Amino acid sequence: MNLPMVVLPQLFNHISTSGTVSTSGTAGTANTSGTAGTVGTVGTAGTLLREERIMAQCIAEAYKYRGTVSPNPCVGAAVVVDGDIVALEAHQRCGSLHAERLAIGSALTRLSGMSSTSETPSTSETPSTPETPSTSETPSNTGTLPVGSELFITLEPCSTHGRTPPCTDIIISSGVKRVYVAILDPNPRHSGGGIDILRNHGIHVSVGVMAESATTLLAPFAKGIATQTPYIFAKIAQTLDGYTTDSFGTSKWITGLPAREHVHALRHGADAILTGIGSILADDSILDTRLHTTTTPAQHRNPSVIIADTHCRTPLSSKIVQRYASQLTNAGENGGANGGENGGKANADMLYILTGEPQHAPQVQKLNNLSSRISVITVATETENNTPRLNLLHMVQTIYKLGFNNVMLEAGSTLTSAMLHENHIDAIHMFIAPKLIFGGTNALQTPQPPQGIKLNNATTLQLKHSQQIGEDALLEFNVFRV
Ligand SMILES: NC(=O)c1ccc[n+]([C@@H]2O[C@H](COP(=O)([O-])OP(=O)(O)OC[C@H]3O[C@@H](n4cnc5c(N)ncnc54)[C@H](OP(=O)(O)O)[C@@H]3O)[C@@H](O)[C@H]2O)c1
Repeated sequence: MNLPMVVLPQLFNHISTSGTVSTSGTAGTANTSGTAGTVGTVGTAGTLLREERIMAQCIAEAYKYRGTVSPNPCVGAAVVVDGDIVALEAHQRCGSLHAERLAIGSALTRLSGMSSTSETPSTSETPSTPETPSTSETPSNTGTLPVGSELFITLEPCSTHGRTPPCTDIIISSGVKRVYVAILDPNPRHSGGGIDILRNHGIHVSVGVMAESATTLLAPFAKGIATQTPYIFAKIAQTLDGYTTDSFGTSKWITGLPAREHVHALRHGADAILTGIGSILADDSILDTRLHTTTTPAQHRNPSVIIADTHCRTPLSSKIVQRYASQLTNAGENGGANGGENGGKANADMLYILTGEPQHAPQVQKLNNLSSRISVITVATETENNTPRLNLLHMVQTIYKLGFNNVMLEAGSTLTSAMLHENHIDAIHMFIAPKLIFGGTNALQTPQPPQGIKLNNATTLQLKHSQQIGEDALLEFNVFRV
């Protein structure tokens, strides 16, 4: 099972998303499937420059940890010595070591011969967990890299103390004199600061290698910094004539099994899945990640689920509530994002119900008392056509404060179209099934269609990628705000 091509659209012409990382002879092949990458020799042929191929591997490595690093950015890094990538690492979990620190530590370990035999896999082949720290976290990984070593990082290194010490310190002390950075830190308070420190220490820094791909990788982090709201991508499955539910209320199944498997891969990479109470009531869906052709346990990761539910109608007997009520709180079990203000439940896979009801409402109390993995949060409401609805801006701001940068919207037409109308959606993954049903619900129309807008005022989408998945088509769009 390959994770979606969409994650690396700018690399699409150059690298495939299947197989292992290849750096010898041919153009680099980046693996985003969540399996371990190999560490190998940097080749010279292919359509990408040598530096681009190495950076592409760093980006692919970083993508493996989407969903577990938020609210931190996805970052990958590599150390190259004498043309060989001796360490390829990524930031794996909010609060754990940054990619460049891991890569330098891993390289020092490998070069010192402590774990460099073929029988002993590199840290990138056995991603560390909080219980089994990476070898590079051990104090023995001090020292300097050989003369001529190069460091590649997808994001400018941090230069300030956060949850971890500044990465510029370890880069300087490693002795590396050549650093390649894909993009600057999007946070204006830090942007350029790390680069300046390195240059002031005589390190040659090149910025901009694979910048477009790294910008895509960092889009959720950058949007969060700029707007304090999450990056939201909507998944829509529709028939060729535009219907997401037939006129009998059925939407199972519009697409075929391969497309549905792809949706599970999308869920796997999201920090959280946002849905509407309409879908919960209609489908009683469980919204977990089920990948049938998994190769690593990490592919079973379940993102948290968020339900937009103005009147707190989520039934206690629903499968989604029962799924969370039956789980004990076990921080870190699923590696979900949640390092925000609600830091006490960091990394837990949670069910959040966002409602307009006050905390003392009986149904709110019943749901909150069911499990520490269920949290009902009151958000602001507004009234439209005499009907109270959640204030969507406050809703997405609340979701961001929970620590979620990258959210997948999997809702029916009501919530999806409202989110689109209010410009909260950044990308759309539109699955189109080769079926005609001549009636039903269209996800892009509000139930009470507005007047509509003139074509020359249309919201502009950019087609990023298209592919056939089984019998269905997948179109991926960026949404530009006009
Ligand atoms: N084909 C697909 O891709 C796909 C995906 C998902 C679902 N579906 C289908 O869609 C159908 C359900 O669609 P639906 O439209 O009834 O449900 P929905 O979009 O999932 O949920 C809509 C509900 O969200 C709540 N909501 C809260 N604040 C809102 C706001 N500001 N704006 C809009 N909604 C807000 C409203 O209920 P309250 O006001 O009561 O809170 C609203 O009725 C099901 O048949 C399901 O199978 C299809």
